[in-house]
Amino acid sequence: MEPRDVRLYPDAEAVAEAAADYLIALASDALAHRDRFCLALSGGSTPKALYARLARPEEAGRVDWSRVHLFWGDERCVPPDHPESNYRMAWDVWLRHAAIPAENIHRVQGELPPPDAAADYERELRAFFVPESLPRFDLVLLGMGEDGHTASLFPESPALHEHHQWVMAVETRQSVPWRVTLTPPAINAAAHVLFLVTGAAKAERLQEVLHGPHEPERLPAQIIQPTSGSLTWMVDAAAGSLLYFTSDTLP
Ligand code: 6PG
Repeated sequence: MEPRDVRLYPDAEAVAEAAADYLIALASDALAHRDRFCLALSGGSTPKALYARLARPEEAGRVDWSRVHLFWGDERCVPPDHPESNYRMAWDVWLRHAAIPAENIHRVQGELPPPDAAADYERELRAFFVPESLPRFDLVLLGMGEDGHTASLFPESPALHEHHQWVMAVETRQSVPWRVTLTPPAINAAAHVLFLVTGAAKAERLQEVLHGPHEPERLPAQIIQPTSGSLTWMVDAAAGSLLYFTSDTLP
């Protein structure tokens, strides 16, 4: 597997700070040359600290957010005001304060029946990225579950084998059983993918994902290998406690 860019930070707040600087630098550079920056957000709890940092005036002023387009790597099949909604988490913590135009926020319509939500999101992505044969996100943010899942690509999921669709509705064993997720080809077409992983509970699985054998059926985070983009992991000391770094990769 390709050498990876794994960056170790003292704690979750340091990860959020580094991720904010990384995202802002990518967006500023892209917007200096192009008219838009396409960002796919992660759900879950880890990115909350990042989104809260992006909501701060000092960070908000560093990017022309009016030219940023937001998408989601996955969404739970619930209404947008539901406590489990990834859209709601980002709205509450960041987007309600951000200068991103409403028409640039492309949420998954989780309130629809799962197959319709997936089909609608796929239509929206294909219309937005036309005439591309894959969605060209500038940056996809991802987290990793304790079971090695990412987005809503769970172990043994049929979505792990999807090669044509960009979006799928998947049934999971989570509290909200149905989710909509980007598929591996849709994520791997990104220019940059950034994993944020924090907390001791993820240490063993992270070590397996990064240093263990290639078993994407059991460890779906391993399926994320950008075709021509970069792959970066930002982890805190607790999640990275079992990782080893060769001399040329010491953080
Ligand atoms: C979601 C996320 C999911 C998340 C991991 C880690 O919808 O929940 O997309 O893939 O990133 O489950 O979640 P935590 O950040 O809460 O540990």
